[in-house]
Amino acid sequence: MYFEPDCFRVYTSHALAEGVLGWFFPAEDTDLRDINGLEDYWHDTWILETFATSLFEDRPVTILLELTTVRLCTCNPTEQQSVCPAFIPNHPKHPAQPLTAATYPLFLKTHAILSSAIELFVAGAAGGIGQPLSLLLKACPLITELALYDVVNTPGVAADLSHISSPAKITGYLPKDDGMKQAFKGAELVVIPAGIPRKPGMTRDDLFKINAGIVQGLVQGIAEICPKAFVLIISNPVNSTVPIAAEVLKRANVFDPTRLFGVTTLDVVRAETFVGEIVGSKNPSELVIPVVGGHSGETIVPLFSQAQPSVDIPADKLDALINRVQFGGDEVVKAKDGAGSATLSMAYAGFRFAEKVAKAVKGESGIIEPSYVYLPGIEGGEAIQKAVGVDFFSVPIELGPNGAKKAIDIVSKANDAEKKLLSVAVEGLKGNIEKGVEFVRNPPQK
Ligand SMILES: NC(=O)c1ccc[n+]([C@@H]2O[C@H](COP(=O)([O-])OP(=O)(O)OC[C@H]3O[C@@H](n4cnc5c(N)ncnc54)[C@H](O)[C@@H]3O)[C@@H](O)[C@H]2O)c1
Repeated sequence: MYFEPDCFRVYTSHALAEGVLGWFFPAEDTDLRDINGLEDYWHDTWILETFATSLFEDRPVTILLELTTVRLCTCNPTEQQSVCPAFIPNHPKHPAQPLTAATYPLFLKTHAILSSAIELFVAGAAGGIGQPLSLLLKACPLITELALYDVVNTPGVAADLSHISSPAKITGYLPKDDGMKQAFKGAELVVIPAGIPRKPGMTRDDLFKINAGIVQGLVQGIAEICPKAFVLIISNPVNSTVPIAAEVLKRANVFDPTRLFGVTTLDVVRAETFVGEIVGSKNPSELVIPVVGGHSGETIVPLFSQAQPSVDIPADKLDALINRVQFGGDEVVKAKDGAGSATLSMAYAGFRFAEKVAKAVKGESGIIEPSYVYLPGIEGGEAIQKAVGVDFFSVPIELGPNGAKKAIDIVSKANDAEKKLLSVAVEGLKGNIEKGVEFVRNPPQK
C-alpha cells in the first residue's frame, strides 16, 4: 500500500483541481465499503489536503465537503510513478512509501467544492489602515484564517472582529511570546500596513527612516517563517519599501519576484473616482483607469488614454485631474489636520488588491490590477524594465495561482504627453529605489 487506506473526502468543482485530482481518482468505481468494510467515509482529509497543497505549490488547502457519492478507485502504479513523486507528502502518520506497490484506495467525490484556505496575516493591524482592512478581510468569505499582528492592541481588535459571523478564524498577536513568529506561521498572504503615516511638517526622509526599519524587520520575519507567502506592502514610501523587502528576501535566498507586491491600488481607486466625477459615471469602479510608475507624487502616472471604456477628459481639466491623482493623498492629510493620512480609502484599496490576489491564487483567471513589482523577475517585465530603465515599477499585472503571472506593457502605448510624465516619474523612482536598496546594503549608522 502506498498509504494507509484512510478515507479521503474529496469535493471539487474547481476545474484545475478536478483535472489534477482526477489523475488520482480515475476509473473504476467501486463502493469502498464493499471492499474495505469501512463504515466511516469521513475520518481523514489529511492526505488529500496534503496532495492538494502540493499540487497548489505548498499552499495549504482545506477540503470542504459535500459528497454525494463515494467511490473507490485503484490507480495504475505505472501512471502514479510519473506523477506522484512531487506530491508525496511527509507526515508522521502517513510516511511516504515507495510507489511500486501502489494501489491505494481513494474516495472519489462526484459533487463537491475544493476551497483553498487563504491564511492571511496583517502586520500593523491595529492602526488606522490596519483596523478597517482587518474588518474587510474578516468579512471576506475567501479568508479562512486571519492573524493580526501589531506592537499594540491586536488582542482587542481580534476579540472585537471575532464576533463577526464570517468563516475566518481570527487571532491577535503582540511582540511578546514570539507573537510575530506565531502569527506568521502558515501565512499564505501577508499584508503590511505597519509604520507611521505622514503628518504635516514631516519630511519624506523622516517617514522613510522609521518605516524602512519596520518593513525590514517584518520582511525578515517573513523570510524566516513564511518565505512562500505573497507579500503586499502598503507601508510608505512604497517606492522604497518594496526594494527594501526585495533586498531582505534576496539576502535570505527566498526572493520570488512573483510574490512581492507594492500596493498602489489607492492611486487606481482615486483615478477611477476622479474620472468618474468628470465623466458622470454612475459606478466609477467599473472604469478601468491604468495608473503606472510609482506611488508618490510625480512618480504616479495615470494613463487616461488607455482607459476602458475610453473617457473624454476636457483639455482644460486634464492637468488638474493628473495633479489630483498624483497628490490626492495630500487632500486627506490636510483635511485630517494632523490626525494622519488616508486610512479608510486605503483599507478599501488594500482589501481590493488582497482579495484579487486571493481569488487568483484560488484559480480565478483573468484578474489584472496594477502593482509596483520587480519587473525583471516577472514574465513580460524585462522588456518594460528595458524601456523604462528602472527595476521597480507599477504596471498592470495579470495575477495567477503563483502570484504575478505577467506584466502587461501599456507603457509603450502611452501618448506623447504621458511619455513626458513617465520620464519625470522614472527620474524620481531611480532615487527612491536606490535609497531602499542602500538602506539594506549599507545600513545607516545608529
Ligand atoms: N500604500 C498606500 O497607498 C498608503 C496609503 C496611506 C497610508 N499608507 C502608509 O501605511 C502606513 C500605515 O498608516 P496608518 O495610517 O495605518 O498608520 P497608523 O499609525 O495609524 O498605524 C500603523 C500601525 O503600525 C503599527 N506598527 C508600528 N511598528 C510596527 C511593527 N514593527 N510591527 C507591527 N506593527 C507596527 C503601529 O502600532 C500602528 O498600529 C504608513 O506608512 C502610511 O504612510 C500607505
